[in-house]
Amino acid sequence: APKRIAVVGAGPAGLGYATVAAQRGHAVSLFDAASEIGGQFNLGNPDQYPPGSVTPVEAGRFYLVRLEDGGLLAIYRRCTHLGCAVPYDQATGQFVCPCHGSAFTADGDVLNAPAPRPLDLFSLSINQDGEILVDTGKAIERDHTDPAVIVYA
Ligand code: FES
Repeated sequence: APKRIAVVGAGPAGLGYATVAAQRGHAVSLFDAASEIGGQFNLGNPDQYPPGSVTPVEAGRFYLVRLEDGGLLAIYRRCTHLGCAVPYDQATGQFVCPCHGSAFTADGDVLNAPAPRPLDLFSLSINQDGEILVDTGKAIERDHTDPAVIVYA
């Protein structure tokens, strides 16, 4: 069953977080050059992100993935082969690396080598106001995809 994940160490709203204006229905870059890399991102209410959508968060170098079942993941865009930034291809619903052709599913699993493991994750949680928080301080490596890491609001 969907479960609510408690926020660990969340500060007062707006303190130390980059706040995202409401986005409507299409994938856009949520941040400009005002970089918050390594910081925490408040991406607002999950309802803004339709099931089956992948939204780039440029300043955080990650994608907010909303799976078809509503589950949420923050996927680091760095290829697990040699580190190229991996774009998302809307047409195929895959992440395809321009450097050596690795491909990944929307939840980051490897479809094509040479990537040795799924795309890394950043920690994602839902705060008391029901907003998505992503902590980009540390990439979480995984050797396989695991439904247990998917967050449901
Ligand atoms: Fe992505 Fe080599 S860096 S496939």
